[in-house]
Amino acid sequence: MNPVLLTQLNDGIYTITLNRPDKLNALNQDVLKALDAELDNIYTNPDIRTVIITGAGPKAFVAGADISEFNQMSVEQSRQMAKRGQDLFFRIERSPKPIVACVNGFALGGGCELAMSCHFRIASPNALFGQPEVNLGILPGYGGTQRLVQLIGKGRAMELLMTGQTIDAATALQYGLVNYVVPQEELLAKATALLGIIQAKAPAAIAGCITCANAVFDESQNGYEVEVNTFGDCFDTQDRFEGVTAFLEKRKPVFTGK
Ligand code: COA
Repeated sequence: MNPVLLTQLNDGIYTITLNRPDKLNALNQDVLKALDAELDNIYTNPDIRTVIITGAGPKAFVAGADISEFNQMSVEQSRQMAKRGQDLFFRIERSPKPIVACVNGFALGGGCELAMSCHFRIASPNALFGQPEVNLGILPGYGGTQRLVQLIGKGRAMELLMTGQTIDAATALQYGLVNYVVPQEELLAKATALLGIIQAKAPAAIAGCITCANAVFDESQNGYEVEVNTFGDCFDTQDRFEGVTAFLEKRKPVFTGK
């Protein structure tokens, strides 16, 4: 059987490709389990500096949670499934290492939610975004009702959530759901170029940006306080000394992650 995820590490960039193209990369329990294991790897493997998540084949990023698993599920199991999915997507969102979604086609339901849990998104022109769960008599369960509102605003999110309609890549760009739309064959190159820029910075500063930006949407935290503390944490690194010294000496900094 083909592995549900393909992975590759190149120059610190770890690319995870969801690999069920004949099912439009739908997220079944095997895929979610494999993704969770990959999150362990991302959090702990020092060779991984940044991450790309994409889908196999030319048609789909992810066409949603695997609908074929739904009908045999009890109410309690459906809640457990949503909780497990949410926890996994929190791990993506809270990863100290940047994770970019390269959306190469359908990003529907859980696929849109997966893309939204990443730190930012790049799409190909054939990408299609939406939360069509209402067509099945359900609603998004992997954080979609929350992150869609965060990313595109309540009015637009409400419309997409309640109509179940999709938006194309150009509209997603206009809404700010994606940062760039580039030809499909250039998707990974665009992400690689941006991640190359990020990888040249101090890892603690990058992780701090993620922590602070996430704090905006975490009611249990005061984002400004988080910023003060994280700013201070950066001063506790050798990389801060190197960055400031390099500027004063009019040379490029060489960050070591210490
Ligand atoms: N879960 C399980 N299987 C899925 C799936 C999903 N979310 N999305 C697509 N597939 C499967 C199809 O059942 C089909 O499998 P089969 O060849 O064994 O019959 C295969 O992927 C190809 O999909 P198909 O529907 O034939 O492709 P299409 O190009 O005609 O349509 C979509 C593409 C995305 C419009 C359509 O597949 C779709 O509506 N998918 C469901 C989207 C959705 O509601 N997602 C939210 C789920 S909560």
